[in-house]
Amino acid sequence: GKGGYRHFMQKEIFEQPAVIGDTLTSYVDPLKRRVALPEVSCDLGNLPRLTISACGTAYIAGLVAKYWLEQIARQPVEIDVASELRYREAPLPEGGAALFISQSGETIDTLAALRYAKAEGQHILSVVNVPESIIARESNAVLPTLAGPEIGVASTKAFTTQLVVLACLTLAIGRAKGSLTANREAALSEALLEVPQRAAEVLAMDAQFIGIAQELAEARDVLYMARGSLYPLALEGALKLKEISYIHAEGYAAGELKHGPIALIDDLVPVVVCAPSGPLLTKTLSNVEEVVARGGRVILLSDAEGLAQASDGVAHRIELPKVDPFVAPILYALPVQLLAYHTAVAKGTDVDQPRNLAKSVTVE
Ligand code: M6R
Repeated sequence: GKGGYRHFMQKEIFEQPAVIGDTLTSYVDPLKRRVALPEVSCDLGNLPRLTISACGTAYIAGLVAKYWLEQIARQPVEIDVASELRYREAPLPEGGAALFISQSGETIDTLAALRYAKAEGQHILSVVNVPESIIARESNAVLPTLAGPEIGVASTKAFTTQLVVLACLTLAIGRAKGSLTANREAALSEALLEVPQRAAEVLAMDAQFIGIAQELAEARDVLYMARGSLYPLALEGALKLKEISYIHAEGYAAGELKHGPIALIDDLVPVVVCAPSGPLLTKTLSNVEEVVARGGRVILLSDAEGLAQASDGVAHRIELPKVDPFVAPILYALPVQLLAYHTAVAKGTDVDQPRNLAKSVTVE
């Protein structure tokens, strides 16, 4: 059942501190402050390339992983949506590995991309939530998410647990390649271990999102923007909003704004910005200025330090807990989920069974 919640999606959003914690328990040794992956049967220190592929929200998790793997582990990554990878006949390097991400483990395009990569001689890894699924069975090694059953069509807890597993994979590859010192691995592991507590703090702010959602529910279009490892969260925020509220939404890399999307800005277009403090904060805030100067209504998600530097013209400020920039993409998933959820509730749409969508897409 829904355990007292109004929708499965809401229940699943609120389960995140617990299921992130469960997933961390099976991947991080809290005493040694280092990750311990299941046996992956390939040399993670020696991959010429990791090819990542998935669909929808699982693809967006993979995009965050690309930022982490390249920046932190110095691992070259290629990523593509599965419906493209399966047909574009990309050459995959000898000795490479390919990683597929899927909540259901049944998505047809992801499975087809997996089979293509296998035929290209890649070692097949997968991050799945259903361990007996076909994608799990056809993989050389499986890194499970411990999200428990996800019923809502809009993926929430599967996404954040995928991110946790991918963060741990990043640390494991970084260690194997010698890109990460033991101290740095310990610091990043600690940042991960703090996520359940910080996520609970965000959920305690739930009421703050309801008023803003009333405003979003009136909009015809909503833009999302962010930079770096938060950029995929702009895509995820937009995808969640479209799926369940049917409002047109687009996510952009903030630096792309002046290459086109800024033409859309007027006082009717809300712009949700994910900008935690960190090396890219000032760059993102200068994009916020550009939006404000054109009358755009900015909803700024940041921490106290980031908000203190933001323009007075920002319409709404949401103060999130400050975390290590490494784990910010995990934490910022929650506010974008809550915004989409409350907007859909305000519009009265069918949150758990949005029109035209299926929980698992087993036909092309
Ligand atoms: O089961 P999978 O993770 O392979 O599903 C992939 C996508 O179909 C899925 O993430 C979809 O985009 C969700 N409805 C997003 O909320």
